[in-house]
Amino acid sequence: MNDKTNTKVGDNTRLAHMGNNPRDFHGFVNPPVVHASTVLFPDAHTMATRNQKYTYGTRGTPTSDALAAAMNELEGSAGTIIVPTGLAAVTVPMLAFLSAGDHVLIVDSVYHPTRYFADTMLARLGVEVTYYDPHLGADITSVMQSNTKVVLTEAPGSGTFEMQDIPAIVEAAHKGGAIVMMDNTWATPLFFRPLDHGVDISIQAATKYPGGHSDILLGTVSANEACWEQLLDTHGALGMCAAPDDVYQVLRGLRTMGVRLERHQKSALTLARWLEGQKGVARVLHPGLESHPGHEIWKRDFTGASGLFSIVLDGGGEKEAHAFLDALQYFGLGYSWGGYESLAVHVQLNDRTVAHAPKEGPVMRLQIGLEDVEDLQADLARALEAVNAL
Ligand SMILES: Cc1ncc(COP(=O)(O)O)c(C=O)c1O
Repeated sequence: MNDKTNTKVGDNTRLAHMGNNPRDFHGFVNPPVVHASTVLFPDAHTMATRNQKYTYGTRGTPTSDALAAAMNELEGSAGTIIVPTGLAAVTVPMLAFLSAGDHVLIVDSVYHPTRYFADTMLARLGVEVTYYDPHLGADITSVMQSNTKVVLTEAPGSGTFEMQDIPAIVEAAHKGGAIVMMDNTWATPLFFRPLDHGVDISIQAATKYPGGHSDILLGTVSANEACWEQLLDTHGALGMCAAPDDVYQVLRGLRTMGVRLERHQKSALTLARWLEGQKGVARVLHPGLESHPGHEIWKRDFTGASGLFSIVLDGGGEKEAHAFLDALQYFGLGYSWGGYESLAVHVQLNDRTVAHAPKEGPVMRLQIGLEDVEDLQADLARALEAVNAL
């Protein structure tokens, strides 16, 4: 840990100095990118006892240590594992803390591939899965069972942006003997620190805002003291380490994440407010808006909003959704988010079991990039015109 970092200075100062200490590597500002499988030992005794800091590429390098240290500082965690994708950042902790005969509660507004993992692999491994309403707070007890070991939260929800009462869920889950995990990719630890609110495991698709340039896949999982050893052990057992160049790129991305997020936040809120008054828009699903049902929770617990939200079109179906997307010039049609460029997608919600899709019309998810906001507004106006002209 760099001695220039402490929690009293501002976020951007911390982001600029955390992770590595330049003095540890000849004064170079950035840490080396260590490509490694084999690490040599000086003698047979050291090799037999593995009594040195680094032992093999899968078990950590100065590059992965730098990113893990930065994430521990951001998350306030005891330890962080780095995995190849954001999806792996969800699946690895689930595999670490669930066994045959256990029950897991997963929020119904979860990122769809998490649901697929639970319905296929967890089910095959003998883990019972229940999806719960994102609006359940302390009432989560109503769906808990004696064998509930993990409660997975994700707030705001994927595509539909429901907020969750995380502190209330944590209190109820802990009372019932379960640990709480949170996919906190939307807020990043800059806008919400899950462990400060009692969450045991914080999950981040570092592909999004930490990477920030749509050219990297990576995930981080940060644990509190009680969960760290078991998480680390599973990481080692699965051999799920990430490639050094990708790890380095995410550490690089963190340096500018604060200033990028400020811009994402401002542009997204400007556009969300503007969209609320536009013909053809039934609703805007952005927790930072006063009209959002989860706004009070967002205001109480979060310190900011990132650049991803949805709009519900006022009527129509696939034809209207496609007209909207096809009229866009600067918003690309593509998955993922958190990069510098704007994206739009027609959200598919037929997987939901209790958190039903908005009924007014198709849900369009918008990732607001770093472009000039006037150009993005003109693009969205063009898309709405195309829908209204049908
Ligand atoms: C909320 C959330 N979690 C996890 C992921 C998975 O990240 P990755 O694309 O790196 O696997 C995504 C990707 O869209 C996501 O939206």
